Amino acid sequence: MQTSILILFLILTGLALLVFVYVFMTSKGAKSSGGGIRNALKKRLWFILILFVLLGFTAWVTISKSPYYLFADEAPSQVIHVASMQFAFVLSNNSIDPDSPKGVSSIELPKNELIEFRVTSLDVNHGFAIYDASNRLIAQTQAMPGYVNRLRWKFTEPGIYHILCLEYCGMAHHGMRASITIK
Ligand code: CUA
Repeated sequence: MQTSILILFLILTGLALLVFVYVFMTSKGAKSSGGGIRNALKKRLWFILILFVLLGFTAWVTISKSPYYLFADEAPSQVIHVASMQFAFVLSNNSIDPDSPKGVSSIELPKNELIEFRVTSLDVNHGFAIYDASNRLIAQTQAMPGYVNRLRWKFTEPGIYHILCLEYCGMAHHGMRASITIK
């Protein structure tokens, strides 16, 4: 899926480039009257062209580093269900009943195994963000009511990871947290 999106993106970028190159080539032979405006336009076209190339290159370089792309073809060894609510995260190995959410706010997970978090919200929008022991954000997804977002991650370093809410969701947003211990 991700590969086909990348290919589609590259094709569309290529087409856009062709259009710009065509416009540039055909405007070259035009008469010199109104040259000032034409030159300004040409400069702008070149600017857009370079911007497109840079954007395409950035997408190409970074897409393979995205966690969604990285673990797309691998089967997760564990699934953790996450229900987000004002103002807590409930984590469980089993699917969570929205009417009486049961789970924990702190779990232990194995090192070097692919974990899939299935993240949803029981009320408003929240963010599910995983920070490593040095408070670096390593992976995140949105928690939305009515949707389940899958976030896959492989923890390579042992330690305590913190889950924080990444979207302002009310007065106690800052207190919405959970933790993962990697052995
Ligand atoms: Cu939940 Cu901010």
